[in-house]
Formats: sequence, structure tokens, C-alpha cells
Amino acid sequence: MAATRRTMAAPLALCWLVLIVYASLYPFSGWRSQGVTPWAYLDAPWPRYWTGFDVLTNLLGYVPLGLLFALALARSGHTRLAWLFGLLGPALVSLLLEALQSYLPLRVPSLVDALLNAAGGALGGGLALSLLRRRWIRSWNRFRNAWQAEESVGGIVVLLLWPLALLYPTPIPYGLGQVWSRAVSALAAWLQDTPFEDWVPEPVEALPIGPLEQAAVVALCLWAPALLGYALLRGGRHRLVFSGCWLLLALAGGALSSALTWGPVHAWDGFTPPTWLGMLLAVSLALASLGLSQRAAAVLLLLELGLALGLLNGAPDIPYFVESLEVWEQGRFSRFHGVSQWLGWLWPYAALAIGLRLALYPPRALQCQRMSEPTQGAEPSSYYQRHIFFCLNQRANGESCCADHGAQAAFDHCKARVKELGLAGPGKVRVNKAGCLDRCAGGPIAVVYPEAVWYSFVDTSDIDEIVESHLRDGRVVERLLTPPDVGR
Ligand code: FES
Repeated sequence: MAATRRTMAAPLALCWLVLIVYASLYPFSGWRSQGVTPWAYLDAPWPRYWTGFDVLTNLLGYVPLGLLFALALARSGHTRLAWLFGLLGPALVSLLLEALQSYLPLRVPSLVDALLNAAGGALGGGLALSLLRRRWIRSWNRFRNAWQAEESVGGIVVLLLWPLALLYPTPIPYGLGQVWSRAVSALAAWLQDTPFEDWVPEPVEALPIGPLEQAAVVALCLWAPALLGYALLRGGRHRLVFSGCWLLLALAGGALSSALTWGPVHAWDGFTPPTWLGMLLAVSLALASLGLSQRAAAVLLLLELGLALGLLNGAPDIPYFVESLEVWEQGRFSRFHGVSQWLGWLWPYAALAIGLRLALYPPRALQCQRMSEPTQGAEPSSYYQRHIFFCLNQRANGESCCADHGAQAAFDHCKARVKELGLAGPGKVRVNKAGCLDRCAGGPIAVVYPEAVWYSFVDTSDIDEIVESHLRDGRVVERLLTPPDVGR
């Protein structure tokens, strides 16, 4: 019955795996047997030339994979498998991808790469192990509960991918999603010599866009991630802090994208007067929309991002930009280009899909019964309508327990508040002490019956919300729900 807050580790692990497969097998062309077995690289001589860049990318690229594999398994209840798979999973993935590279003439499989990948994965798995041991995941859960208003793992993943998408160089700064002319060319090539050839729209000569139009596109494109954040996060100071991070990431992402494309001395070249004007407009719009409800932010996101994509995809290609980009594509970032390219093309459309879901469906709040409503068909009725149990367990051996995290104060506060609101007594609410409820990693913990809703609270304002929203009004406080996979 209880709504649940799902772990983000699994979808993030899947995303990272896709990125790694892409980067390892790019450019995916020319597949053929090269007369060697796929495992021949295991006893081939070691490469004579490596660069620090190769070592770092091979090592660091797999750290998140090991970390996310282990976290995804641990947080879905497979704690024992988590260590094994976190440590060995990335090594297996790398061995397999290196073997597949032996069918790609443009890629060179190497045992050194596989060893570095395995070491990176093991580092990540070890990091996950240490995070779980130190119970840092609990802090993360608290952080999520405090900040995230909407249960949308996909939304948070899309939001987190925005800074990576910015690395893809675009003719108009921040203009992600300019895919129309490429999509039409690809479709034309695909349908060539078929009866559907004539259905492909003819390319239209686009007029160059002026500085003011460019500033408007920058503003709309930059405003989109801010609105997505507002649709997912709580209001007030959370949105203000988020807006500060958004602006810093926009500046850093824009500069890094130019630096990677044209060289470090050109990092700030993209910040022309129209771009600054667009950024200024985006900041003003983001500040003006701080007070919107989550749903209104999602609706506005759909409208303004749709407009931005319309303007962007009507803009012509810039020949100099396209040529320079082709040179960069052949360079040392060729593998990452493929990844950032897809992110740069698809990010706005993923944001639109998330915005549509958030606009169509209101925040998922479970509606239970209000105190005043009788239980339909529940015979015989319960002596108490709701019972809340607080774990007050104190451990003498120094292990973390709810009593160390203010459980007693929260219990006292809850009792007083229930009394104050006239909710205490038979047929109403009962507040009880409990021993360890065996979900210590999410502590301090309380559970409300008959709905069997588990809460991880932080302070007395959380308790006030549980009392007023759930115990009195029958509305589950989603932001305080204990994640389903949290155990001892
Ligand atoms: S110590 Fe509170 S749930 Fe175990």
C-alpha cells in the first residue's frame, strides 16, 4: 500500500553501461573477422605506446560502473551478490567488449585496457562497499527525502545527464536537440530507391538567425533544465540552491565544451554578447519561476522547450562549425564524442517526455482515510484507527541505532503533538515505543499501521508533517518514506 522511493543506482548503472558499450564499440562499422580469435588479445604483446590519458580514461571510466553495479544490487536486497558483482562485473564487461573489438578494424583490443577497466571497476565496487558500511547511503536517502518532491527516478537521471550533454559542441551555445536536418538526411538515405522515397520532406533553405533570436534560443534552452529541476524538487531554499548549481554548471559546461572542441585557449569563445544576453534572460526567467508549483513548472517546460526546439531546428547549419567538428571527431575524444553527441541530440526530447509525465500525473501522494472518515466494510473496527511505532532502540556496542539519532525526542514530540491536536485516544491515534524494527539503515524509523507506511524522519518538523498529514488527514508524507530496500 505504501508508496515507495526507488533506488536510482539501477537506472544509472544501466545508463553508464550503455555509455561504456558505446564508447568501446564506436564507430560500430566494418564488423568482420580479422582472422584471430576474439581472445587473442589476452596473450598478445603489450602495446608499446600508452598515454596518461588512455590510462586515466580506462581506469576512471569503469569506477562508476563498479560503484553503481554494487549499489544497485545492494539496494535491491542482494547484498551478498553486490560485492561479488561490483568487483567482477565490470571486469567481465570489459573482457567481453575487448573481445568484440577484435571484430572492428578501427578498434584495437588490449589486455592493458581490460586490466585497467577491471581495476577501475574494482575501485568503484570497493567504494560502494565502504559507502554502505559507513552508512553514507542513509545520508543520501535523507538528502533525497529532503530535496526531491516527485518520485521520478527517470527525471533525476535526465537532470543529472544535462551537464554531460552540454559537452557536445553546438552551433548555438546550449542549443541541444538540433537534429531535424540530420534526421531528414538519414531518413532520405534509408528510404532511397524505395516507394517511400518521395515521402521524405524536401530540405528547406533556412534563414540565418540574428543575435536577438540567438539570445532567445540560448535563454529558452538554458531555462529548460531549471524548470525540470523545479518540477522534481521541493520549493524554497532547495530550488534556490539548485538554481545556483544550475548556473555554475551552465558556465562550466559551456566553457569545457569549447575547450574540448577548439582547445583550452578558446574556452570562453562561445560566450559572445548574444550568449551572455541569453544567459541573463535565462537567469531572470529561472528566478521568476521559482515559486511555481511542480506541475506548473512541468507544463511550462513543455511549452518553452517545444518553442526552443522549433527555433533551433529551423536554424541553418553553420558550414565552418560542421567542418571544424569533423576534425574534432577524428581526434582523441572520438570515443567520447559519440556518447556526448547522442546526449546532446536526445537530452531535450528525454526532458520533454519527463515533463509530459509530470504534467499529466500529479505528484504521487497516497490517499488514506482521514480521521473523520469511517472505515468502509471494516468489521470489527480497530480499537485505534492509526498506530505509530517509534524505534527507540539503543545499542551498547557502539553500532548505529535510532536512539543515537534523536528518536526519543521525536517520539516525545509526536506524543505531545497528537495530544495537542486532540487525536489521541481509542478510535483515533496511539503513539507507541518499539524496540529495533530491523530497518536500522534508514533510522530513525517509525511505522504507521494499519497502512504499514515506514518513515525515516530527521527532525521535529518532519514529525509535525507526519502527524498532520498522515495521522490526522490520511495523506502519506512521500518525501519521508523509507526506501523499500533499506534493511538492517
Ligand atoms: S535500531 Fe531502529 S530500526 Fe533498528
